[in-house]
Amino acid sequence: MTRLPKCSLAPSGLFGLAALLLSMSTAPAMAAGLNGDAAYTEGPQACAECHAQAVDDWLSHGHSRKLGIGGPTIAALDGRFGLSGIARDGGFLLPDHDKDVYNWDNVLFIIGASKHWKTRFVGADGYILTKNGKNQYNWSNGSWSNYHKDEKRQFTCGTCHTTGYRKDGTVFNEKGFPGVSKAGLPGIKGDWAHFNITCAACHGPGAAHAKKPTKTNIKVDKKAKQCGTCHIRGKDPKVIIAKGGFIKHHEQYPEHLNSPHKKFSCGTCHKAHVTRASGLKVRKGKKEVCDNCHPKQRKAYTGSSMAKAGVKCMDCHMGRATKSAIKNGPYEGDVWTHLMRINKGADYTMFSADGKTAKNAISLEFACMRCHADGDKAAYAAIKSTHTLGK
Ligand code: HEC
Ligand code: HEC
Ligand code: HEC
Ligand code: HEC
Ligand code: HEC
Ligand code: HEC
Ligand code: HEC
Ligand code: HEC
Repeated sequence: MTRLPKCSLAPSGLFGLAALLLSMSTAPAMAAGLNGDAAYTEGPQACAECHAQAVDDWLSHGHSRKLGIGGPTIAALDGRFGLSGIARDGGFLLPDHDKDVYNWDNVLFIIGASKHWKTRFVGADGYILTKNGKNQYNWSNGSWSNYHKDEKRQFTCGTCHTTGYRKDGTVFNEKGFPGVSKAGLPGIKGDWAHFNITCAACHGPGAAHAKKPTKTNIKVDKKAKQCGTCHIRGKDPKVIIAKGGFIKHHEQYPEHLNSPHKKFSCGTCHKAHVTRASGLKVRKGKKEVCDNCHPKQRKAYTGSSMAKAGVKCMDCHMGRATKSAIKNGPYEGDVWTHLMRINKGADYTMFSADGKTAKNAISLEFACMRCHADGDKAAYAAIKSTHTLGK
């Protein structure tokens, strides 16, 4: 049986893993998905023989690092079914209280293994661990937050954090997880074929293709809507849900649909397999992805005092108006927004009166006052041409 090699889950230094993986195996794995669905392979290693680059790229993308193995399942699942590393050995901290609950032998898996925003923990019974709070680790400043403190919180997150999710699937409930002796995991809603966002999440179950590859037995969908199945929050993709003065996270699709770029796909700017900034399609000789299509603004902006100070297009037009783990200031969340349009109105507020939804343009609070904390909004609103300041 092919297994992905052990790794520390560190986001860098993963290149060549697909090759290493191949050197460890003689044939691609053909076993069925974790939930027994034979249309699925045992995981991305089944694709590595022929698509090594895609697998390497995926291994360093957050999509492969959504969930990480905790304690009991290590021996049985290590490196298979879309898991790319072991949380216990990977520098992930557990809450520092109630050690009877927060210990690796009681952690089935962790949610958030990319070390980017935050990490939460799922217990051996499948419920998210909430005892006495301080149960969410925030990577940007090492703090702990209360996530549904002391509530009984099912793991209902499979739709977006796993692949081949079946809401009514009962495999884990009836049989438990491989490697976990006690049967039944009441805390887990549904079951799935792979942990994480594997190739199959975007290309469809790949067992038939991996066995006999053709172009017609695998799916390629380049539309934003496909990414939007997970990068969304509410039911209506046009509505951006907000809370506490910030856009709530994982709403890139609704933000995009409210942006001037709605006719483009996510793939216009992002390489689908490549992580964050390194996956942006910045053309040779250009500074930012925006320059590909906005040469006039680039020309105006280059040489201005802010350009010289290193302020980028995205600093204003994608101001961090969205919050996942923590806010870093009154107008600074921790996720880039995709709204792009700035509304310079001195009276403009970004949110509806009840604060529950966001409008379609960034206000000067997020575009400017994230950095100019003591700035005067009316004075900024009066500036005629922001791009050429200081020229
Ligand atoms: C034994 C080699 C092999 C394996 C294993 C394999 N593929 Fe392929 N794949 C191919 C070949 C060859 C093509 C090109 C087919 C053609 O051009 O007719 C292809 C094409 C593709 C395409 C592009 C189709 C298109 O329309 O351009 C995708 C996506 C893809 N494979 C994904 C996968 C995934 C996901 C897996 C693992 C589940 C996988 N492949 C496993 C050989 C393989
Ligand atoms: C099945 C659900 C799902 C689909 C489909 C999906 N994503 Fe994601 N995406 C996620 C989750 C969950 C995360 C958080 C992963 C993490 O912990 O970093 C994420 C993270 C990301 C990130 C940030 C992490 C990084 O390493 O860059 C980008 C960029 C991204 N997705 C882009 C896309 C694009 C573009 C598409 C469509 C081609 C897409 N996603 C489709 C669920 C999905
Ligand atoms: C988040 C969605 C997503 C995931 C996950 C994903 N792909 Fe893709 N893949 C795409 C999209 C979208 C394209 C089309 C890119 C384009 O042409 O703009 C693509 C293109 C491809 C192609 C065609 C050639 C190329 O590289 O453009 C292959 C082969 C492929 N993917 C294999 C894989 C394999 C193997 C995995 C898992 C290791 C994987 N993909 C994971 C979305 C995804
Ligand atoms: C509708 C899809 C969706 C659902 C349902 C969902 N998430 Fe997410 N989640 C995402 C996406 C997409 C991201 C990454 C992009 C972002 O946060 O803007 C993410 C990010 C996260 C992160 C941060 C990951 C990191 O590496 O820092 C955690 C933790 C998380 N989600 C936990 C949960 C939990 C717990 C649940 C269930 C109670 C849940 N999510 C349900 C889509 C979803
Ligand atoms: C693929 C080409 C493309 C890329 C890349 C692109 N844009 Fe655009 N952008 C457009 C087009 C086309 C429009 C006009 C849309 C319309 O008017 O319907 C637009 C409109 C805008 C607008 C609104 C203009 C107005 O008159 O209100 C802003 C702001 C903007 N883009 C900022 C950005 C930023 C910032 C980036 C980089 C993060 C970026 N764009 C990347 C093509 C692009
Ligand atoms: C210091 C913040 C800031 C930076 C950096 C910045 N912009 Fe702007 N941008 C603005 C403001 C403010 C407006 C005006 C909005 C209005 O007038 O309603 C604007 C307007 C625009 C527009 C709308 C058309 C126009 O020219 O008025 C586009 C397109 C645009 N910017 C793209 C870019 C690109 C591309 C970059 C990087 C090369 C960039 N911006 C850098 C703040 C910024
Ligand atoms: C006009 C270009 C553009 C388009 C279109 C676009 N993105 Fe992005 N996206 C960016 C840029 C620029 C970043 C910032 C990358 C960085 O430097 O970290 C980004 C970052 C992200 C992140 C990571 C956020 C964070 O704070 O780390 C996610 C997730 C993401 N994009 C998802 C999507 C999805 C899903 C779509 C389609 C619905 C999409 N993007 C469309 C330009 C774009
Ligand atoms: C990412 C942080 C950041 C953002 C966002 C930002 N600024 Fe700045 N701004 C700076 C820095 C740094 C300087 C100092 C440049 C210098 O003078 O050396 C500066 C300088 C300025 C100056 C003085 C320019 C001069 O030549 O004296 C003005 C005015 C200004 N910003 C307005 C704005 C406005 C208006 C916005 C929003 C549309 C904005 N800034 C957004 C970081 C930022």
